[in-house]
Amino acid sequence: MEASFDYMRSYPPEPSSLIPLLQRTQERFGYLPREALEEIANYLGVPLSRVYGVATFYAQFRFEPLGKYVVKICHGTACHVNGAVNISQAITEELGVEEGQTTEDGLVTLERVACLGCCSLAPVIMINDKVFGKLTPDKVRKLMRKLREGKLDV
Ligand code: FES
Repeated sequence: MEASFDYMRSYPPEPSSLIPLLQRTQERFGYLPREALEEIANYLGVPLSRVYGVATFYAQFRFEPLGKYVVKICHGTACHVNGAVNISQAITEELGVEEGQTTEDGLVTLERVACLGCCSLAPVIMINDKVFGKLTPDKVRKLMRKLREGKLDV
């Protein structure tokens, strides 16, 4: 990656800049590329293992680019009691990836989330900014097929 890391220079080169720099780096690239983590370690004068240690501690940081579509699977209480586990299983089977992963073609990232704020529609998923509720494993399989075929308007 021939990326510019000049933005780092606006942070003081000291260990307390680590988290703000990780956040800024993720905002910029959408994830934390390895090259950027190495650059942060050099710039702050801390070991790369420490940079990784902090980054992996926080769930907000990711180490792979997001897919074109982000599917958030709700595992909040209402969705859980209405079958979120079966919804999740149908999605992971259909796409061949687990929650937290991205399909090899970079099309879809699966995320596990707590309440999406529309519990009356449980079980719920979100695809990018669009909510899909009252799902069944069957409905969600059809949604995933449409998504892969580019036939879903999201
Ligand atoms: S628990 Fe799933 S939307 Fe609230």
